Amino acid sequence: MKFFIDTANIEEIKEANSMGMADGVTTNPTLIAREKGDFEDIIKEICKIVDGPISAEVISLDTEGMLKEARHLASIHKNIVVKLPMTIDGIKATRQLSKEGIKINVTLIFSPLQALMAAKAGATYVSPFIGRLDDISNEGILLVEQIVEIFNNYAFDTEVIVASVRNPLHVLDAALMGADIATIPFKVLSKFASHPLTDKGIKAFLDDWNKANK
Ligand code: E4P
Repeated sequence: MKFFIDTANIEEIKEANSMGMADGVTTNPTLIAREKGDFEDIIKEICKIVDGPISAEVISLDTEGMLKEARHLASIHKNIVVKLPMTIDGIKATRQLSKEGIKINVTLIFSPLQALMAAKAGATYVSPFIGRLDDISNEGILLVEQIVEIFNNYAFDTEVIVASVRNPLHVLDAALMGADIATIPFKVLSKFASHPLTDKGIKAFLDDWNKANK
């Protein structure tokens, strides 16, 4: 399973990369807005740190605007994946850009048929937002299960990026379902490494060592 880092924060990206846990990066306009600096400069900086797919999102809502923005973003670096919203205009743009060899991540997926449409249009990735579904009392992870099943049924190459991840269990469940990728906020990733029994075990080993005066 690939781990992408869901942030535009350079320090977080560097730290995750040094752990070998950044197979790629996803950004969105909200994540970019949290950081200081120009959008393209931030994206270029990320591309220097991580050698993997880097998602950068368009802000246009019409197909023509998306095509223009997407072609420009894709020209910035070979690893750029253009994020397009799951709308009819987004689907039309996905179809055209995929034919041009530009990798597309269709974002804001909340139903399995949206994912199927995006895959049929040629998307390289789809991003189901599971945390936002949980927020409205719909079990988000069930969406991932359905998308993985549909893509397996028809052998689509489109990869599933589990997005809007809020806790480690989201990633565990996604991994058990065979999702290709989880895009993970840094603070959630940091929680994977810790376990109270690990801390307790380390302390006990050191205490025993010190007691024996080695
Ligand atoms: C990633 O592609 C998404 O933009 C991100 O995971 C959204 O997460 P949120 O629902 O926590 O904003």
